[in-house]
Amino acid sequence: MQPSRVNESPTALRGLLPPDLLRRGGCPFDPPAGLRRRRGQGAVQPLALANGAPAFLVTGFEEARAVLGDVRFSADRVRHPDAAAADRTPRAVPARTDGQFVFMDPPEHTRLRRLLTGQFTVRRMKALEEHIREIAVSHIAAMTAAGTEADLVPAYALPIPSLVICELLGVDYADRRSFQERTALALNGDAPAAERQRAARELYAFMGGLIAAKRERPGDDLLSGLIRDAEPPLTDAQFVDIAVVLLGAGHETTANMLGLGTFALLENPGQLAALRADPALLDTAVEELLRYLSIQLGVSRVATTAIEIGGVVIPAGATVVIAVPEVNRDPAHWGDPDRLDVHRGRGPHLAFGHGVHQCLGQQLARAEMTVALGELITRLPRLRLAVPAAAIPVRDEMLIFGVHSLPVTWS
Ligand code: HEM
Repeated sequence: MQPSRVNESPTALRGLLPPDLLRRGGCPFDPPAGLRRRRGQGAVQPLALANGAPAFLVTGFEEARAVLGDVRFSADRVRHPDAAAADRTPRAVPARTDGQFVFMDPPEHTRLRRLLTGQFTVRRMKALEEHIREIAVSHIAAMTAAGTEADLVPAYALPIPSLVICELLGVDYADRRSFQERTALALNGDAPAAERQRAARELYAFMGGLIAAKRERPGDDLLSGLIRDAEPPLTDAQFVDIAVVLLGAGHETTANMLGLGTFALLENPGQLAALRADPALLDTAVEELLRYLSIQLGVSRVATTAIEIGGVVIPAGATVVIAVPEVNRDPAHWGDPDRLDVHRGRGPHLAFGHGVHQCLGQQLARAEMTVALGELITRLPRLRLAVPAAAIPVRDEMLIFGVHSLPVTWS
């Protein structure tokens, strides 16, 4: 089993893919130029991994659904020798894998996934949505009280998902600041490795303490719900893993969608005006932003047996990489795929994946994006970039795409 790591997205591919594939160039909202070049070369095409091992890249929408919908394609990293070999980042924490359901296959995955799904109840989501609005409104108020300009990433995009996860997991108000600081550091790919590891170790220790406290005094949060409902009971190691998976999966993704999504709307003033004129479009606009921006650049699987996809036979043991940004702009599936169109009907995109590992937090992510983007564009009608678009630093070569900062003004 592989040790768990806090600084990883689900099924991370860092080090697995050749760097030129993820390199950007031109429009910051388009798929990386390396992936773009492969458009038209086949829905399932050969790919050499960073270590030279032969693999397959899937760029077609239907083919990607076929892979992700077929559990003979495994998510288990132990089966993934290329990923394991590429994974040279120093370990942040000791081996602890009991609850890393992201890297499990059915039936092992099914039990934990069901337990978790049972905690994302309508009632809990409704309560969280109200909380998201309070957080969004108070952060806009703090920004406007402090002046007429701000960097939207630290002022808005990062704290919202962080505070929402605190609420979901039941982190006490008194502990939130240190929790946020440690999370931000542990997840910050730009920070020195030693600092990130220290923050990750502290975060694991904090989570252990949190779970002990919940066992003693259960609340109305997800962890308390798991303690109440899991039969047979989960171990402490499983709890800590689950909490860390939720944190890693739900934090960086949503934060980058808020930053990059705002940038994309500001750079498409016609679309932004349409949204302001008819806020009922917010739901479809969020789906369209998820499709158009596809911030999670890839998910990978390993074939456990020879399987034919789109006329290509994937041999047993081969790695398959789903090029999510290309799949979500497959011209065989979407009309005018490179256009951001907030009127586009809500069709199934693959930004949240598909199949048994499809994003567990998608309902929550949608609520965060709808509320946070909606409040931002209605409360700040003159919102615009404070620097030229070309000066916005993008997260080049990162597997979760986005912006490092987004200076905006609203005067
Ligand atoms: C815009 C924000 C988000 C995006 C783009 C996103 C994207 C994804 C994708 C593509 C997967 C599938 C990975 C795979 O098949 O290997 C996934 C899985 C997952 N996501 Fe999200 N996610 C987002 C927000 C969230 C949030 C807010 C949470 C939790 C609070 C969350 C929790 C998870 C978990 C736990 C999994 C693994 C599910 C499993 O393995 O069964 N995500 N996400």
